[in-house]
Amino acid sequence: MRNALTLLIALAAVTFVVLAGCKDQGNEAGSGGVTEDSVKLGLFVSTTGAIADFGLATKNGADIAVSEINAAGGINGKQVELVFYDIASKPEEAKSAATKLATQDKVLVGMGAVASSLSLTAAPTFQTNGVPMVSPSSTFPPVTEKGDLIFRICFTDEFAGAALAQFAFEDLGKRKAAIIMNQDDPYSTGLANYFKARFEQLGGKVETTEKFANNTSDFNTQVDNVKSATPDIVFAPVYYNDITLIGQQLRGKGVTVPILGSDGWESPTLLKNAAKDLEGCYFGNHYSQNDPDEMVQGFIKTYADKHGDKPSSLAALGYDVVYFVKNAVDKAGTFDRAKVAGAMRNTKDLKGVTGTYTIDNKRNASKPITMLKITGGKVEMVRQIMPEEVK
Ligand code: PHE
Repeated sequence: MRNALTLLIALAAVTFVVLAGCKDQGNEAGSGGVTEDSVKLGLFVSTTGAIADFGLATKNGADIAVSEINAAGGINGKQVELVFYDIASKPEEAKSAATKLATQDKVLVGMGAVASSLSLTAAPTFQTNGVPMVSPSSTFPPVTEKGDLIFRICFTDEFAGAALAQFAFEDLGKRKAAIIMNQDDPYSTGLANYFKARFEQLGGKVETTEKFANNTSDFNTQVDNVKSATPDIVFAPVYYNDITLIGQQLRGKGVTVPILGSDGWESPTLLKNAAKDLEGCYFGNHYSQNDPDEMVQGFIKTYADKHGDKPSSLAALGYDVVYFVKNAVDKAGTFDRAKVAGAMRNTKDLKGVTGTYTIDNKRNASKPITMLKITGGKVEMVRQIMPEEVK
């Protein structure tokens, strides 16, 4: 009897110690970023450097989602603590932010980067350390091929390139394209290839593909070659800083046909600097500010009240990525990273500001692309192209 009692007391003590141990770390095996009353989520984007506009907007959007979530009680009862690193538009900074987030801060999930080239250098570090990474906006297909913990909540360039080619061929009736692309940027070269493949499959012809290197500001050679190819459309899958100069220089040499771009054109400075040169041009993007949807308009209002201007698609994706993580933790019912990643893989019909999306078996979001037109110094929505429309 005494022995049984001693055994019971010993068992109770062990159970207490084990439970207390768990509570101290506030987590079970494999879980991440959890303290007594908070959960840490990492954010790594560029708020300085060549593409600072992208990261500033993303962070603003993410901050709004975090405030809303915390005001409503947090994620799974824990307040969200955002651990932020500016990766300064540099691949080596992206890698070092990934290392810090995964091994020092031990976040539950890393959210970033925007530019595909930067996500590519960060992804392997997250994968090796067992920390899920979700890019809000990197569209280059190989990003999510870095491992089964790497996700994106945006469409891929494979989809965007094909959708843009169909738009040029079918909606605009164009047959002769010229491409200008950044040979050093995987996002740019990827889109150029996907566009060409679909445009030519439809019966169009890409007359010339003009390449330039990072940090080019004189596009004379490329513009001359485009001009002599006499295209009826120019495809420029480049970032906003480059299209500003390319637009100016094409118009300066009398090339007046529409220019078509993708999400990289998105920036608050685009219309300020290039509205005249890009009048009548089109680009594909992740959402439209004209979308009457209540959730979209609600987010636009909150953002505008706080920042004075309307949110870009980067801000919308920054907002959506935080809710994507929340949804996965809610579904998993735990902060166990592997289970959270499992819930991410099973995400279906999740509504965001950037549309309703499903994560496919390659951990990419299947969702529409929104075609926008620059007209009268403003951006207007032309139409959405749905995933099932694109071959
Ligand atoms: N899709 C771009 C890339 O992968 C980044 C981007 C997203 C830029 C959205 C602007 C808007 O590099």
